[in-house]
Amino acid sequence: MVLPDVGLTVGVVGAGYVGLATALSLAWTGRTVRVLDRDEARIARLRRSEDPLGEPHVSELLGSSLPITFTADPAEAFDGVGWILVAVGTPTTVAGHADLSQLESAAAAISRYSQPCRVAIRSTVPVGTADRLASTTLRAFRVVANPEFLREGMAIEDSLRPNRIVAGGGPEDRSAMRELYAPILEQQVASLGGLSFGPDPCPFYWMDRRSAELAKYASNAFLVTKLSFVNEIANVAASLGADIRAITEVLGSDPRIGPSFLRPGIGWGGSCFPKDARALDAVAAESGYQFLILRAAIEQNNAQLQRAMRELRAELAGRPGIRIGLFGLAFKAGTSDHRDSPAVALAREMVAEGWLVRAYDPAVSSMQLTGAGLTIVGSPLDAARDADAIVIATEWPEFARADLASLRAAMKGDLLFDGRCIIDPAAAESAGLRYRGICPPATAD
Ligand code: UGA
Repeated sequence: MVLPDVGLTVGVVGAGYVGLATALSLAWTGRTVRVLDRDEARIARLRRSEDPLGEPHVSELLGSSLPITFTADPAEAFDGVGWILVAVGTPTTVAGHADLSQLESAAAAISRYSQPCRVAIRSTVPVGTADRLASTTLRAFRVVANPEFLREGMAIEDSLRPNRIVAGGGPEDRSAMRELYAPILEQQVASLGGLSFGPDPCPFYWMDRRSAELAKYASNAFLVTKLSFVNEIANVAASLGADIRAITEVLGSDPRIGPSFLRPGIGWGGSCFPKDARALDAVAAESGYQFLILRAAIEQNNAQLQRAMRELRAELAGRPGIRIGLFGLAFKAGTSDHRDSPAVALAREMVAEGWLVRAYDPAVSSMQLTGAGLTIVGSPLDAARDADAIVIATEWPEFARADLASLRAAMKGDLLFDGRCIIDPAAAESAGLRYRGICPPATAD
């Protein structure tokens, strides 16, 4: 198939975290980009240079007169492009599979409105999806699997300075893919905000489509397994009177283990980990393989939240009209995203218990669950007022720096449940708080 020589004009389908970050990063490196999203309100905001994600650097990029346009019209988005990058959502179905309906409609729109070009699938999709599209809806196109590894809250930084670019396709697509990402691969990227780039190039891994798709699931599955493992060790340490903070330092100092992703907590969440873990478990089971470790990691994550609830119930037993100051709703610090957030799951459990929850999160000022026993307030002190307990559910640095004595003074009770291991137990105790949670200090003889 001979493709037109327009490799550096790119259509991006989907203006979510992955699509918008990819689109803006490519535009920042000089590519001409057209972003397509069916959400007309979002397109209108982007045209006004408004950041719909609350991600660092997005506003700055939107205001930088980049060669990027936004549209809800596929014909306009795909006109004369050499690449179309697909970054639509792949949520979970009831059975735990990835719901590919958005991807299917993107593929249908591409086949209908675009001339033959290269199509890269950036969404996390079950192994074999790119192969299937290449032999069905996108038969007239060259399909590449090109999974994305960016973190929310770091979307632009991770897109412009990824720790790897992974892609799978036919041998004739390799150099075109390298060319598309050349400035990023070579780290020849103009500095942006406080970010500067280089000198080391970014590794590029080229393989078949199925391996690229599975590499993405494998990465997320490994990370959740690491987190569930560290949460289990934290639970064992608490039972045995050992200090998990000291233990994770030792673990992290072994370069084979590495220091990141070792902070224990009430569990992992977000729009990717739970969905991808369930989807990999489901496709493995369907292929006849029981992925025992992954299944255990998922179960452990559910149990971790229940364990926190059990401890809270025990600590608060007998108190009438229990009020909780919940610190955090986002699934992690640095984002307003509270989809599949352990903090929200905990809030739900507490509300179901009949407790009154006043939650504060620096980035979340409204959400659906509010009303039935849950109120969102404007400051940590507001959340702590008259509370029987403060529960830290998201690892925001401002919680770690909070003035514990003033919080204690505002409370009715004295319990501080640190669900993210960000408070020094000794500092809490000296502020008059009873420190409990995932990381209790070692028990002295
Ligand atoms: C995750 C991966 O880190 C990205 O590489 C991947 O591209 C992305 O999913 C995706 O598949 O799209 P993200 O969902 O932004 O990124 O979240 P993470 O920063 O990985 O955090 C996930 C969860 O793990 C959060 O709930 C966080 O609080 C928890 N976590 C993380 C811990 O409990 N302890 C840690 O030490 C680190």
